[in-house]
Amino acid sequence: MNPSSVVPAKAGTHPSASPNETIGIGVGEPTHTRGPTEPWVPAFARTTELRAEKLAAAGGVRIAGVELSEPLSPELKDAIWRAFLAHHIVVFPGQFLTRGQQFAFAGNFGEVEVHGAHRGEAKRYDVAHVMSNLDADGNPVLRVSKAANYHWHTDKPYHAAPPMLTMLRAVEVPPTGGDTEFANTALAYDALPDETKWRIAGLRVVFRPAFDESRAAVDHPLVRMHPETGRKALYFGNHSTHILGLPEAESAALLGELLDHATQPQFVYRHRWRAGDLVMWDNRCLLHRLVADDSMRRYRRVMHRSVVRGTVPV
Ligand code: OGA
Ligand code: MN
Repeated sequence: MNPSSVVPAKAGTHPSASPNETIGIGVGEPTHTRGPTEPWVPAFARTTELRAEKLAAAGGVRIAGVELSEPLSPELKDAIWRAFLAHHIVVFPGQFLTRGQQFAFAGNFGEVEVHGAHRGEAKRYDVAHVMSNLDADGNPVLRVSKAANYHWHTDKPYHAAPPMLTMLRAVEVPPTGGDTEFANTALAYDALPDETKWRIAGLRVVFRPAFDESRAAVDHPLVRMHPETGRKALYFGNHSTHILGLPEAESAALLGELLDHATQPQFVYRHRWRAGDLVMWDNRCLLHRLVADDSMRRYRRVMHRSVVRGTVPV
């Protein structure tokens, strides 16, 4: 593999690689370390087959040949981070991690959030949590509530500081269906007509959890600046109730138009899961949804999930 990187060294530049092109992710040639009793072993022993492949024009990169169950070298961690900022969605196939190992991997990127406490669930907080389509008897169900992941959304936008990234690892997946779609809201923003950009500049969106409308609302900029790349992206989706200061009908129409715009096929990457896929995505410039289909009531779909804390949107 050519060790020179096409992942931008500088944040904010956008890769021009076309889908399925093999690209480097900027990890150098293997270096060698020697423990007290071990023979010489390559520090990147598991990364010599490392391959990065761009998945769609809208984003997504598939990185094969890494072993995420082990602590990352600083070089590999940095390469993953740059791939994440450049492509927004990183797919690692063949990752069979324990829930604890996944939690530790997520911890490379920031503080891992606790989950489920508001439902009074007895949870372990030092492991990835389990998310499935199973009912109490372990049978698959398709339950499309207002708060369900089947609607386009970004994760927990109703928090003052919503999560920067979410990762899911596929444990059990349907033979077909149960895909996840990601819509790139930075590309969608860029593609808006200038009049619309002017119209929405400075607007703020109000969010309140669709599963608990008694909770206090928060508001965030409709056009948010990515804290690491400086790119502007639309920030809205399910859990957004209205735009501050606009008449209700106008607000609903604008949010509807923007959602139709942002979720057009050219802005979307659709992930077809295989067991062992670990996918991490950037909540600051993407909407995502689980595609509702019949497979969800026919087959088990079990994922392990970790969420990393983000910053206040600006
Ligand atoms: C999530 C989510 C979608 C899926 O975990 O935040 O929206 O496809 N998941 O499971
Ligand atoms: Mn989600």
